[in-house]
Amino acid sequence: MDLQGDDLTEAVVASFEGSPDPRTRIVMSALVRHLHAFAREVDLTEDEYFTAIDFLTRTGQISTGTRQEFVLLADVLGLSMLTVGLGNRKPPEATQSTVFGPFFVEGSPEVEIGGDIANGAPGQPCLVSGKVLNLNGEPVAGALVETWQADEEGFYDVQKDLDAPQNRGHLTTDAEGNYAFWSVKPVAYPIPDDGPVGGLLRAGGRGPMRPAHIHFMVAAPGYARLITHVFAAGDEYLQNDAVFGVKDSLIADFTEHAAGTKAPDGKTPDQSYYTVHYDLVLAAIEETQQ
Ligand code: BEZ
Ligand code: FE
Repeated sequence: MDLQGDDLTEAVVASFEGSPDPRTRIVMSALVRHLHAFAREVDLTEDEYFTAIDFLTRTGQISTGTRQEFVLLADVLGLSMLTVGLGNRKPPEATQSTVFGPFFVEGSPEVEIGGDIANGAPGQPCLVSGKVLNLNGEPVAGALVETWQADEEGFYDVQKDLDAPQNRGHLTTDAEGNYAFWSVKPVAYPIPDDGPVGGLLRAGGRGPMRPAHIHFMVAAPGYARLITHVFAAGDEYLQNDAVFGVKDSLIADFTEHAAGTKAPDGKTPDQSYYTVHYDLVLAAIEETQQ
């Protein structure tokens, strides 16, 4: 047979032609062609090939249900954000989507509107509020708002040994579409960089930092599910997010208030605190273009 060069590539592509699933044929033929083109373009050496196999082996070995090293790899290569863009084509007036990240946990605590999700997490208190709206500017009542974020030390609760959740919760919007909760002011933090992906970042002369943000996942019947973040204006890593997740429309001002001043919800914290207001705008399913 002596397959080499383009003949080898085409033989591998042809080997998938018997797949009963047309999408498998399309995806695998493109994957093989691009993979072979990549190896040819860089003139891949056998040493580099074995280094890559070792990297992927270690990426698999460190992965668990909660340590998602392959997701992290897709994140730092921009593949996650590329897929978010392809999967969420919607009008620019809708709140834009960004990466899900590895720190969402099913079954977060339910909180009342205006309740506290910090649950003792270290950090300066922060009142997060806004409305869930549709593209006509009308409130979406009864929307499920899930939120999660890191504390002042840059850690999510799942990265610490805790008995109860901190800085995560879910609530339901009221008749005017309002949501509100107290958490702590988020800070910039490094993505987990003690594994193979951290090594890749260092080899590439890159840093692991993400700018300060709060995660949201919003669901309501008839609307496309929104997965996004609200980023803190002025953060030094906004231009340099390790996972390329920042969109200008997702940046909001976090305003500091002195201790003893009344917050918009009528509470008067005895320490200085922040407020941030951000409306989350949902596209109806038929307003998204897949
Ligand atoms: C996060 O924002 O939680 C996150 C996203 C991607 C990789 C690591 C963390
Ligand atoms: Fe995060």
